[in-house]
Amino acid sequence: FDPESVAPLLLDWYGREGRELPWRGTRDPYRVWLSEIMLQQTGVATVIPYYQRFLERFPTVLDLAAAELDAAIELWAGLGYYSRARNLHAAARKVTAEHGGRFPETLEALQALPGVGRSTAGAIRAIAFDRPGVILDGNVRRVLCRLLAVTDDPRATATEKELWRWAEALTPENRSHDYAQAIMDLGATLCTPRRPDCPRCPLAGLCRAKALGLEDELPRRAAR
Ligand code: ADE
Repeated sequence: FDPESVAPLLLDWYGREGRELPWRGTRDPYRVWLSEIMLQQTGVATVIPYYQRFLERFPTVLDLAAAELDAAIELWAGLGYYSRARNLHAAARKVTAEHGGRFPETLEALQALPGVGRSTAGAIRAIAFDRPGVILDGNVRRVLCRLLAVTDDPRATATEKELWRWAEALTPENRSHDYAQAIMDLGATLCTPRRPDCPRCPLAGLCRAKALGLEDELPRRAAR
């Protein structure tokens, strides 16, 4: 299929069926960054109350930077992966010290923040700044493995490289904010790890895994 046919289908679906989530009304990079860090290893339903409490206590990156690390960790209690809270606090101090409290817009500067990898930097750039940002998180990886019927271990270096190339080829030049939310939402709501809801999927007609009857088998777990 033509890689450029994917974004319009996803954007149309997202316009009709995208979820209302607390961080979707905002382009404030601080809020976008906070939500993306929380969502890295934790599902939407769990994240929502933490996200809201965190913002009540620390409404801006300056507030977070001025706080003690322990205060941030306390608000994180229950979310797990506490290195995220430590990185969050360190990144807030870096944004304050090196960028005057304004989030940087380039991928390089975003990736230089503790806890922000290539995919999270792409998500922040797309969602907060509406600039093309390539995302390959767990949700997107699963969508792409199915769409392209990738039968290799997606974590193998060569496969990972190929998936990044595809993620890039599918990412549109325009409507970056909506596209980022759309592709992550597809993985979170329809193209789920178990029993994907193909009948409702806007990409079902293009999906190679679906055509091969492999949608339940992919992505392959790493061989052990
Ligand atoms: N997972 C990671 N980022 C997300 C987002 N912005 N919306 C929904 N799920 C996500």
